[in-house]
Amino acid sequence: MRTIAVVNSKGGVGKSTVSVHLGHALALAGKKTLIVDMDMQDNIRIWFNAEEKRTTLFEMMVEGKKAIDATVNVRERLDIIASGGDNLGAVPFLLNLGNLVNDLSRPDAADFKRILSRLSLQWLFDLKAPAPEILKKSLRPLTGIYDYILIDCSPSRTLLHTMAVVASDHVMVPVSMEWLSIVGSAQVGNAISDVREKYNLSTDIAFVVPTFFDKRRSRVCQEVMEDLTKMYGKKVTNPIRINGRLSEAPSWGKTVFDLADRRGMEDFEELARRVIGNE
Ligand SMILES: Nc1ncnc2c1ncn2[C@@H]1O[C@H](COP(=O)(O)OP(=O)(O)OP(=O)(O)O)[C@@H](O)[C@H]1O
Ligand SMILES: [Mg+2]
Repeated sequence: MRTIAVVNSKGGVGKSTVSVHLGHALALAGKKTLIVDMDMQDNIRIWFNAEEKRTTLFEMMVEGKKAIDATVNVRERLDIIASGGDNLGAVPFLLNLGNLVNDLSRPDAADFKRILSRLSLQWLFDLKAPAPEILKKSLRPLTGIYDYILIDCSPSRTLLHTMAVVASDHVMVPVSMEWLSIVGSAQVGNAISDVREKYNLSTDIAFVVPTFFDKRRSRVCQEVMEDLTKMYGKKVTNPIRINGRLSEAPSWGKTVFDLADRRGMEDFEELARRVIGNE
């Protein structure tokens, strides 16, 4: 099982689009794939018009519910885990609180714990791992079930980002053809270095995916591609071309494969081959 976090701290660069279409491309290539939505926007569930399941990512992380009960099948060999929407935003606060509670010595914490119990937050006493490692721990039972897990991250850099990086073998950074998107990729690189050192991990940026590639804007695209190649060398993958079908796809609840859109299928099949070739 390979876990890949799809991250860029810049918004709207194509993270969710890449997660969904790459996920479907991997599934069609015979790989059992799971997309985990780590964004309060709940885009992935809405995209696939998936049922609101009892168990969400929020409940998995803060209440210790089983990951397998949170998976929803959306296509052959393709499952998703929904984010839990707005609740997910409370995760950093709740998990940090949980770790704090567990750090307190029992007699000193008695009053505090009584208050938390009254608020039905007693589960905070049972957190067994430091907050950044909780996603990794809750996904571990899925080893052997999936070939790939893609974690679609939100643009805001919070504990949720750190959790996604800690849970992943590799990081994929979509970069749109804009300078600020390159800046976002550099911020991701710095954040990963910090996490790697702190948690003694080998996770690193493995793929930089140029998105919104538009040959009509050839000068801008060439400049961005040159900068990306200078910064990331062979980690830069084939570009995902600007494509009206990709922007329409979510409103129809479809992927480019459902729509048999040749351009989109070519781009994501090539990206999937690149990911699989990296195994
Ligand atoms: N290659 C493309 N061509 C045309 N439109 C695209 C392309 N990639 C993404 N889009 C559209 O651009 C918008 C932003 O894409 P997406 O939601 O994937 O970005 P994101 O990085 O996940 O955003 P956020 O940071 O809000 O999570 C969406 O409306 C999407 O349909
Ligand atoms: Mg998104």
